[in-house]
Amino acid sequence: MTEEDFILKNPKNTNLEKGSFTWQSPSNIALVKYWGKSDPQIPRNASISFTLNNCHTITTLEYLKKRTPSSEYSIQVIFEGKANEDFKPKIIHFFKRVEKYIPFITEFDFVIKTENSFPHSSGIASSASGMSALALCFMHMEKELNPQISDHYFKQKASFLARLGSGSAARSVEGPLVVWGEHNKISESSNLYGIKFPYKVHKNFTNYQDAILLVDKGEKQVSSTVGHQLMIDHPFAKQRFIQANENINKLSNILQNGDLNAFVNLVESEALTLHAMMMTSNPYFILIKPNTLKIIEKIWEYRKNTVSNICFTLDAGANVHVLFPEKEKEKVNAFITNNLIAFCQNNQYICDDVGFGAMNLE
Ligand code: PMV
Repeated sequence: MTEEDFILKNPKNTNLEKGSFTWQSPSNIALVKYWGKSDPQIPRNASISFTLNNCHTITTLEYLKKRTPSSEYSIQVIFEGKANEDFKPKIIHFFKRVEKYIPFITEFDFVIKTENSFPHSSGIASSASGMSALALCFMHMEKELNPQISDHYFKQKASFLARLGSGSAARSVEGPLVVWGEHNKISESSNLYGIKFPYKVHKNFTNYQDAILLVDKGEKQVSSTVGHQLMIDHPFAKQRFIQANENINKLSNILQNGDLNAFVNLVESEALTLHAMMMTSNPYFILIKPNTLKIIEKIWEYRKNTVSNICFTLDAGANVHVLFPEKEKEKVNAFITNNLIAFCQNNQYICDDVGFGAMNLE
């Protein structure tokens, strides 16, 4: 598929007036990280993520045909029941990027009602779930205009549009494992949209658990937009992109053969490499906090003293995602409650597991 294939041409139904669609879309956590891009949201390496289950955004898109045609966007944003101006610039930016592919967005007045299942200022990025939920609502509208589009095209284009809002959002449409970015060992992979991991996954990874420890709920000092930009002149970037693509290859084998030791090693190394890139960019910055490190040390200690396959990964922030197989759930949950939540802000953490992607809600 090329970008041209995603341009809506000659819609069949021209009578669309008024209505609404609601989609629930999950967050995701990358195992091999995407950090570095070129325009327009083209990743410098392939990435792979677990789709989450409990952490999601629910978005309702209400549309009404404009009385007087204009090329201006008409958007009202309601976040958790209240009018919200803060999200508007990001949404307008998204509209500008996707207009070429869904030109009908200038023809309607829109009300976007959105809410997250996780606390807003939890440090959990809502851009992946938020942008994919919105992209799915627009695809639903496109389906009304063009009912013959296939389910496959629907999801592919939803991921394509979501990517233009936030790169990692391309991986939030489906589950349980999604690859985004062209890779020679992953058939059908693309820089334009995410695809489901195309090979059979070993049972060790079924219903994998993710406990998200909320270490720091404050605003990040450096946004991921700035972080991606800093990879452009980064002294280690070239090697990093090669390494990430090699790690996709390794992780693809691990996911198929069920080697949990190798999984732990690769996933933790990816998390630390992401943060190493931040610490070695210019300007340099640090997003982890002292308690992030304390949690990591505790996890390593626990692994040394028990026969556990628990490991951690990190997003662009201080929170720690604790990953472990379902069969260790009881023991690890006790370990978390007894040893880790003391390092979380207000003792807060979220129990999640791997999910299967977005859902239409009537
Ligand atoms: O989707 P963005 O532009 O917010 O970038 C997110 C990048 C990481 O979350 C740090 C890694 C990833 O692959 O999700």
